This record gives sequence, structure tokens and C-alpha cells, in this order.
Amino acid sequence: MTIRIAPSLLSADFAHLARDVSRMEVGGADWLHIDVMDGRFVPNLTFGAKVIETLHALTRLPLDVHLMVVEPERYFDAFAKAGARTLTIHAEAAPHLQRQLARIRELGCAAGVALNPGTPLEHASEVIGDLDLLLIMSVNPGFGGQRFLPGTVDKVRRARAMLDQARSGAALEVDGGINRDTIAKVRQAGADTFVAGHAVFTAPDPGEEIGALRRLAMEQA
Ligand code: DX5
Ligand code: ZN
Repeated sequence: MTIRIAPSLLSADFAHLARDVSRMEVGGADWLHIDVMDGRFVPNLTFGAKVIETLHALTRLPLDVHLMVVEPERYFDAFAKAGARTLTIHAEAAPHLQRQLARIRELGCAAGVALNPGTPLEHASEVIGDLDLLLIMSVNPGFGGQRFLPGTVDKVRRARAMLDQARSGAALEVDGGINRDTIAKVRQAGADTFVAGHAVFTAPDPGEEIGALRRLAMEQA
């Protein structure tokens, strides 16, 4: 089964963004995870379309854009045009989830739904056919470097079963607190895509850390 490591740029050195992006590419990252926050859905602000456009020019890695914003549909066109490969929206911020996912696909992007730790899996169950990616948050979103919530493992297991039962080929991504101690457990539970910010960027050699995480995940495969 595919294993994807998606470093989160939230923990990159923004003064050396180009250098850090190239380190991820050379280090074997599969995707670049980009955390867009609006200070409303989550208590933090990050980047918008301009930064995504800049990243797109810097790398051929697919840009996995995680929208932690209210009214995400306001940004779909700009982010798709800027070069996002995947647009993932939060079920908690998307009352018209099916329509919003369909719109993302219409724009040529892969469509993802993210669920906060307190949000039941069922909030995505009616839109499995519209999904290219299901993102299970393993921390409450807003900040990098938080501790992995252990209840996530069982949720991932149930998410895997739900996708398999629907014969969905959607990626199953986990985001928050992924490191050498936690990746094997979520891989074993059925996740295939792993976001890691703090673990990768605080490592002495970020490229080597990507490799280490991948090996730990593969051992479970
Ligand atoms: C949290 C973000 C995550 C975060 C992960 O709100 O969605 O992508 O950057 O970072 P770590 O791996 O440091 O928990
Ligand atoms: Zn994220």
C-alpha cells in the first residue's frame, strides 16, 4: 500500500522557505502540507494564495492544502489557480459539504474533508463518493508541535473500515503530533498519508527524518 509523508510547512523557517522546500524535495517528501488558517476557525493566522503560488513555483511536489478557515469556498478558485493539488476543508466549517467537494473537483483539484478530534466520523459518511482524501485530525487544529491524541488510533481504524466498505480509494491522512513514536500506530490502524511538521523540521537532518518516518510506517505495511 502507498505510504505518503507530507511535511507541514508550518514548522519551516520562513526566512529560508525556498531552502526548506528544497530540503523536503531532496529528502523524499511525497507531498507538501500547507496549513491555511484564518484566525476564525482556528486561533491562528498563516498564509494565503500568494504563498501557495510562490511554493508552486519552487517545487514539483504536490501541494496538499489544509484549509482551517470558515467559508472555505471563498478561496477555492484562488487556491486552485495558485497550484494547490488537494484542497481539504473541515466538515465543521462546511454546511454544504457535498456541493463544496464537488466544486473542488470541478476546479481540477483533489477534494478532502478534515474532521476535528471531537467530530464523529459520520460527518463524512454521506460524502465518501465525493472524497479523494479523508483527514483525521490527531490534535485540535491551530498550532504545530502539539501532542498526539491517543483516541485517534481507533478513529483511524474505523475510518479505514468505512472507506473500505464503500470501496473508496480516498487517501486516509493523519495530521498532528506525528513522529517516530506515533506513526506506526496510525499506520497499523490503516492511515496511508502522514503529516509531520515539528518532527521533521526540528530534526538535525530533516531529510533523514522523513526517511525514518517512512521506514517506521513501512514496517507496519
Ligand atoms: C495543526 C496543523 C498541522 C500541524 C502539524 O493545526 O493542521 O498540519 O502543522 O504539525 P505537527 O506535526 O507539529 O503536529
Ligand atoms: Zn494540517
